[in-house]
Amino acid sequence: MYELEINHVSHRYGDYRVLNDINLQILPGQIVAMVGPSGCGKSTLLQAILGTHPPTEGEIRADGVLINKPSRNVGIVYQQYSLYDFLTAEENVAFGLKLDETSLPSRIFSYRSYAKKRQVHLRKAREFLEKVGLSSAMGRYPAELSGGMRQRVAIAQAFILKPKIVLLDEPFGALDETTRQELQMMLLKFYQENLKAKQRGERPEYTIIIVTHELNEALYVADRVIGLSRYHTQSEKGAMIVYDRPCPVFSPDDPRDFSKLVEQREELRKAVFDESYIKDHNKYVSFWSELAQDSQLAATAAANQPAPRRIR
Ligand SMILES: Nc1ncnc2c1ncn2[C@@H]1O[C@H](COP(=O)(O)OP(=O)(O)OP(=O)(O)O)[C@@H](O)[C@H]1O
Ligand SMILES: [Mg+2]
Repeated sequence: MYELEINHVSHRYGDYRVLNDINLQILPGQIVAMVGPSGCGKSTLLQAILGTHPPTEGEIRADGVLINKPSRNVGIVYQQYSLYDFLTAEENVAFGLKLDETSLPSRIFSYRSYAKKRQVHLRKAREFLEKVGLSSAMGRYPAELSGGMRQRVAIAQAFILKPKIVLLDEPFGALDETTRQELQMMLLKFYQENLKAKQRGERPEYTIIIVTHELNEALYVADRVIGLSRYHTQSEKGAMIVYDRPCPVFSPDDPRDFSKLVEQREELRKAVFDESYIKDHNKYVSFWSELAQDSQLAATAAANQPAPRRIR
């Protein structure tokens, strides 16, 4: 079963057609980077997946369930921190659980049972804050946190509701380089947790689409990169997915050596950003065929033990 399925999605604002026939399936535990020229429709696609702006054509499903309004199946983190100034980090993270699992009358009239639930929510919030490396800042208010810390809180806030998928819309765009690198590292750690969960036969917890303008970042944090662009033969009908390929997986212990990304980065730049290079939009859409080839390789490797297997 796919965690996310986008079937023949198009979107228009009035007469202006932004998205044209987007098709995408995402597996549990994938971290997918989305790149594309400014204004091509990346945020529009995320809003459609979030359910705040359902597409004008086509359908989107999370874990098989049709998305036509916001729900706890999909979470989002924006570039600008969306935290409540009057709540501590811990209370901010617990806030979604409070809204989701209690009502105002229950908080007032069944105060005892609410107080119990509240303790559970705060405990969960603390667990998540530890996961994102913020154990020391639980009781601090947003004004007392750095930009990177606030984004960590926002990410914990999104994941605590156990959504099927979390959307990150240029989440690190406002951060300095060092902080950005720390948060990239956090995503690599999430990916390792996903791999471990899969090895245990469990559903991986972190399925993510991250929009970024940094091609190195896209190739570094994700296991798959998609490119959305109007620079293709059917451009008058809107942006399509013109690039969809696997990319190398980095573990948090690997050196940040981007030299192995150079070739793919150049291919990505040409395919998605180069206006002078109009192409068939299917030319670089090969994720599933490469995955199938890879599984075949893996099967052959398994048959001829002890050949190494590339983990994805
Ligand atoms: N609510 C709206 N009404 C009308 N047009 C809109 C609306 N929102 C976005 N657009 C237009 O749709 C197009 C896609 O916008 P969108 O914000 O999805 O692009 P983007 O790829 O996220 O860009 P960026 O990289 O700059 O964030 C743009 O031309 C934008 O002007
Ligand atoms: Mg955008």
